Amino acid sequence: MSTYNFDEIIERKGTSSVKHDMMNRDFGRNDLLPMWVADMDFRSPDFVMDAIRKRCEHEVLGYTYGSRSYFEAIINWFANHYDIKAEKEELHYIPGIVAGIAFAIQSFTNVGDSILITTPVYPPFVHLPLSNARNLVCSPLSIKNGRFEIDFSDLEEKAKGCKLMILSNPHNPAGTIWSKEELKKIADICAANNCVVISDEIHADLTLNGRKHTSFSTVSEMARDISITFIAPSKTFNIPGLGSSVCYIHNEDIRNTYFGFLEGYEVANGNVFAYIGAEAAFREGEEWLKQLKVYLQKNVDFLEAYLSQNMPKIKVVLPEASYLAWLDFNAYNMEHNEIKSKLINDAKVALNDGTQFGGKDYEGCFRINIGCPQSILKLALDRIYETFGR
Ligand SMILES: Cc1ncc(COP(=O)(O)O)c(C=O)c1O
Repeated sequence: MSTYNFDEIIERKGTSSVKHDMMNRDFGRNDLLPMWVADMDFRSPDFVMDAIRKRCEHEVLGYTYGSRSYFEAIINWFANHYDIKAEKEELHYIPGIVAGIAFAIQSFTNVGDSILITTPVYPPFVHLPLSNARNLVCSPLSIKNGRFEIDFSDLEEKAKGCKLMILSNPHNPAGTIWSKEELKKIADICAANNCVVISDEIHADLTLNGRKHTSFSTVSEMARDISITFIAPSKTFNIPGLGSSVCYIHNEDIRNTYFGFLEGYEVANGNVFAYIGAEAAFREGEEWLKQLKVYLQKNVDFLEAYLSQNMPKIKVVLPEASYLAWLDFNAYNMEHNEIKSKLINDAKVALNDGTQFGGKDYEGCFRINIGCPQSILKLALDRIYETFGR
């Protein structure tokens, strides 16, 4: 059995990495410690790299489809990890989940239709409905005991007339794991409004501290019947550059509409490495994932202890899953832009701007990515501490 070294520092600059080489676009400079875009600074797993290398040895990279063994690996992973008993015909390759959401917006809504989200949330949930000229309806989450919570009476009110809900399950920006009861309530509200639910479960595998993920589709037959589930090996195994996501749809009508869109727009097929990488990850990834989750939890513990000892003014929502945490700097009594400028120009760290997760309500908030060697996380926190003080 291999022991994986997540402490290793790997130079990623110069690899056309969005996280490491594209900071200029969002921060106006490139000399920052990148704690933003949600990929990890760890080596992608050896079994994925070996499968890709082996395929390269054949030296003909022709058109490729998802083989039987690719679908078998997905079906087994879904059954073992999410309790989803999927048939092959209920599954489809998609090139990415953000793209998959855009396809769903096109498939199930028209210009001017309303789309429901809970904020703060992963920025494309905000941008995609707007850039497709849909009406964005936001139900704000509140923070209770350091965890994001849904206001169900607000959600019920806002769901009226919505055609689609985009749900992050677990919820980015802080990997909140929604309980079965919470998911059931969402299902009831959406079903009552004939609202299709997209359950984006990209962070599902990274549950920390022994917690369990509940797939939206498993909470009731009705939930399964009104939903599209998106899953990917990309966050779990740090292979987002492969573009190898999957969607699962049980309901035949929803499936025909959505799969018809994928075929009709010729976005139904992946590149050769997407299939090879995903299959290897889902087939051989158990031990790597186990070790990764232990390391990520250590980073969560480190972050929590560092903030409470040195910067107790920062209110934090810690990840229950995945490697993203939500930091609220408002107790420093500074304007949002001043905090942002200090982070960029004094601390020299790149964090995601909270206002991109749902607007002005999130001024003073920033998302930090802790999917990195702990020495890098410490360096980032030291720099923030030197800049902001206690
Ligand atoms: C909730 C959520 N959905 C989707 C994505 C991106 O998915 P993809 O790379 O498959 O488009 C991310 C990446 O951070 C995410 O956090």
